[in-house]
Amino acid sequence: ICLRCIILIHKSYPRDYTTNITSAIISKLQRQLHLQPSHPLGILRTLIENHFSSFSHFSDVSPLVTPAKNFDDLSFPADHPGRSVTDSYYINKDLMLRTHTSAHEVETFAKGERQWLLTADVYRRDEIDASHYPVFHQMEGAAIFGADANSMKELEEKNAYLVNYLKSTNIIIEDVPHLSASNPVQSAHDPHHAETVAHNLKLSLNSLILALFGGRKDEPLRVRWIEAYFPFTSPSYEVEVFFNGKWLEILGSGVVLQSTLERANVPNSIGWAFGLGLERIAMILFGIPDIRLFWSEDPRFLSQFLPGKITNFKPYSRYPPCYKDLSFWLPENGLHENDFCDMVRDTAGDIVEDVQLIDSFTHPKTDRKSQCYRINYRSMDNSLSNDQANEIHAGVVSRLKESFGVEIR
Ligand code: PHE
Repeated sequence: ICLRCIILIHKSYPRDYTTNITSAIISKLQRQLHLQPSHPLGILRTLIENHFSSFSHFSDVSPLVTPAKNFDDLSFPADHPGRSVTDSYYINKDLMLRTHTSAHEVETFAKGERQWLLTADVYRRDEIDASHYPVFHQMEGAAIFGADANSMKELEEKNAYLVNYLKSTNIIIEDVPHLSASNPVQSAHDPHHAETVAHNLKLSLNSLILALFGGRKDEPLRVRWIEAYFPFTSPSYEVEVFFNGKWLEILGSGVVLQSTLERANVPNSIGWAFGLGLERIAMILFGIPDIRLFWSEDPRFLSQFLPGKITNFKPYSRYPPCYKDLSFWLPENGLHENDFCDMVRDTAGDIVEDVQLIDSFTHPKTDRKSQCYRINYRSMDNSLSNDQANEIHAGVVSRLKESFGVEIR
């Protein structure tokens, strides 16, 4: 056994000063929820793959990537906050858990794939609540076309067909211009080509969204496109869907940066890419109220879903929650909220429903800072007694003292 090593998916890797992956996260690496045919994420993946039936489909790619693949290949600046150990999970300085499926763009284009979907688990250090979980699933989609007059003419014909089709459906789309001063064409592109490609991106996604969300209610489906920024696309857009009285962001997209295609050795081409958040969409479609339910192994959850079908989730009785407050003096060099949350999750597991910073205080004389977190414990699968909650909480408290040397108040 190597104490300076870490075993992930049957392989050993050296630890270093950046290592911050926790055992709670390691236990998720091989769940592959998106490959289970009757799991909501698996059902959703299959529905989208069937919609883009002429695309190549990938869904079994290791989550371990180099920071170069996750960031540099996609032109992220050297000081982008996503690179920091407080935002992302590192195995060591040369290997991390992908934070998005875009990490596989260069390698997939380099294989010669021109129209493809890639579904995978992605990892981001984050707060804990009903819609945030440090592991979630994305689907990347991309299509590239010849950057020549003929290919663009063909694409325009496809676009005209899709425009016509969408006109006959019950969807209201708020659009933004394909290009603008704040959402510019790349210098490597003919503006007319970029517009044709951006138009095709919007039409392709509008018809996907209609296939997924449409036809469920009498009222029309409302979708809005907004300008966005990503380091690896220009122009870039986000899409929001109006659902239950609220606009919900479901994807990021744009015209692929030419440098990405150059790195993949793809000549004379121009194309688009998008990244869909699968949990977000599945929560809406299946009526799943809490993102942690996706990880449940309770048959009352899993037995509700059937391959190929969108059905409405019927909540089963929720067991009562039990919250504990934890106040402590911060160590000299502070304590990042993500480090606190990960420690709690690693110690207590999925019993932790919610962690909230409810109070911060600086002592007026000593200048010492203290914080109070409220941790909500609730079991998804059985009733948690106060004694059990106390025992788990005691584990959190002692871990907090040990790992961060804080003084409990
Ligand atoms: N990778 C981006 C994200 O995770 C989404 C995206 C994908 C944006 C492809 C543009 C193109 O937020």
